[in-house]
Amino acid sequence: MARTIIEPFRIKSVEPIRWTTREEREQLLRAAHYNLFLLPADDVLIDLLTDSGTGAMSTHQWAAIMEGDESYAGSRSFDRFRNSVQDIFGYRHVIPTHQGRAAERILFSVMCKKGDIVPNNTHFDTTRANVEFVGAEAVDLVIEEGKHPSVVHPFKGNMDVGALETVINRVGRERIPLVMLTVTNNSGGGQPVSMENVRAVSAVCRKNRIPLYFDACRFAENAYFIKLREKGYESKTPKQIAQEMFSYGDGCTMSAKKDGMANIGGFLCTNDELLAQQEKNLLILTEGYPTYGGLAGRDLEAVAVGVQEALHEDYLRYRIHSTAYLGNHIAEHGVPIVQPPGGHAIYLDARAFLPHIPPDQFPGVALAAELYLEGGIRSVEIGTLMFGAAAKMDLVRLAIPRRVYTQSHIDYVVEVILEVWKKREQIQGLRLSYEAPFLRHFTARLEPVGVPITPTLASS
Ligand code: F0G
Repeated sequence: MARTIIEPFRIKSVEPIRWTTREEREQLLRAAHYNLFLLPADDVLIDLLTDSGTGAMSTHQWAAIMEGDESYAGSRSFDRFRNSVQDIFGYRHVIPTHQGRAAERILFSVMCKKGDIVPNNTHFDTTRANVEFVGAEAVDLVIEEGKHPSVVHPFKGNMDVGALETVINRVGRERIPLVMLTVTNNSGGGQPVSMENVRAVSAVCRKNRIPLYFDACRFAENAYFIKLREKGYESKTPKQIAQEMFSYGDGCTMSAKKDGMANIGGFLCTNDELLAQQEKNLLILTEGYPTYGGLAGRDLEAVAVGVQEALHEDYLRYRIHSTAYLGNHIAEHGVPIVQPPGGHAIYLDARAFLPHIPPDQFPGVALAAELYLEGGIRSVEIGTLMFGAAAKMDLVRLAIPRRVYTQSHIDYVVEVILEVWKKREQIQGLRLSYEAPFLRHFTARLEPVGVPITPTLASS
């Protein structure tokens, strides 16, 4: 019999979490206008809002932090950071940034102009926004299977290679300054991309002389899925797999807040000398000198250790299995989720969970609010509130911070979701009482459809 997969660490420092009563949560939820972004984090028991920057660092990372060299230029912490990143990613130039979106902004500012097109399997929202900010168009080309929550496929994050060729033939390679692959595909459910797909996309790019970049946030989780699911990789280490994957590209953007195992940080890599120079010039303008890029020396140390730890096999085994554990335990009771479970998160399909609530009454927000009411759990809607009427799905993401919660925390989350599942028919839809003109999900105010509109806040 296979033994229980345990957390591959013991706990040296603890952070208390705070219980609230249901009555308190009812009040807190009303005060937050049913938008969990507006809750004080202290009033959340289990926070699954994001896996970004919320992980626990190891003793090795904390020790490295004390070695941080805070010199403005030529810091030895930068050498350690660059060497560690190059060891895995293999790219010639490593440019530190304060987080992923800073790397994106610099990359697209330097490589793209108005009228250009950037294909990706699925752009993450900040990636799309940064492409659009320079006047280029962000095109999502994930395979058909990746668009359907209940369809099971081992590599649902793959890019449709035929569709990529069609786009290149239609608009011409001159209008496509780069192609991106997001590993794993966050917006598509945390689903991995296969090595076969990376090779195929890379071959199309090389044939057309278009650079291939990775959005590498969750590269280690993607590498482990390849090890588990792709023939020929069973006996390779996650690091060897990651090294091979990056060898098919020309550079990457990275948020070290995910598989960098750090609370802040990121980087931009390229093999292109001229681009690197332009990128560093922009970096100096807004982020900082190229040997720190908006980070403290100690942050560089934490990332240098973190990217290596993310590839440890015992960690990845626990990481991927504990996310699947949550997904499988709720799915076996009929709870509709994006299948199969992703690497960093489980996505509830709110339209299937609450079929009596139409999309314009925000089933995802209603479900997220109910999970908070029932058990103090914070999740995030990815649906009609975030994307407006264009949303094809209403999902609720339960993102798992790295090395933070234990199996009993996850068992508790399973129990709360199943309680909510039992009373799903009583859950009411919501309507907006305030919305900002853009990125409205962060600040929107809502109220249950059964309650009269609050006149002072009604949006026109
Ligand atoms: N790319 C992907 C695939 C991401 O998931 C994120 C962040 C970014 C880029 C931007 O990185 O936050 O460091 O600037 N995702 C977080 C999330 C915010 O909750 O999924 P950043």
